[in-house]
Amino acid sequence: MAIREILIYPDDRLREVAGPVEFPLTDEVRSIIQDMADTMYDAPGVGLAATQVGVPLRIAVTDTDWRSEEVRHENGGEPVAACNLKVWINPEFTWRDAGMATWEEGCLSVPEVYEDVDRPAAVRLRWQDMDGETHEADFEGFQAVALQHEFDHLDGVLFIDRLSRLKQSMIKKRLTKRKKLQNQ
Ligand code: NI
Repeated sequence: MAIREILIYPDDRLREVAGPVEFPLTDEVRSIIQDMADTMYDAPGVGLAATQVGVPLRIAVTDTDWRSEEVRHENGGEPVAACNLKVWINPEFTWRDAGMATWEEGCLSVPEVYEDVDRPAAVRLRWQDMDGETHEADFEGFQAVALQHEFDHLDGVLFIDRLSRLKQSMIKKRLTKRKKLQNQ
């Protein structure tokens, strides 16, 4: 188990466009994926893109169940570790719903910021698993939000880019200051 450092905005590496993953996966890529899962659960978060740990490859991990209300309820209010880990490689949306939905989003790379974001309410996704098999499926609700958020990272896009310019500049100021204080 290895926890990797999560890059914090503003950081130029978060703006990199990630490249495709080739198959079969190398041992190095397998261990990056394992580390990404460990890092996500440790944070704790519901999703993490390779871009956020400084690896410019089209990979993300999510577990949208372990902190969900339903799962917490079954576990007496506590989050459950690793109950539904998903690994997404070379993901690509093949359809987006015209209807939009608004969810409050946050990001491990943008600490202490939670804002409402509008996104297509449902999506169809094509992706590869760790064996290189291609899958396609439809997602809606929180899972659709989480996937769109994570895969934005692979294109160097952050959820705050989808906010008003005024909000973006306030967030940038606050986090730049936060970073300076931490580096002192
Ligand atoms: Ni994020």
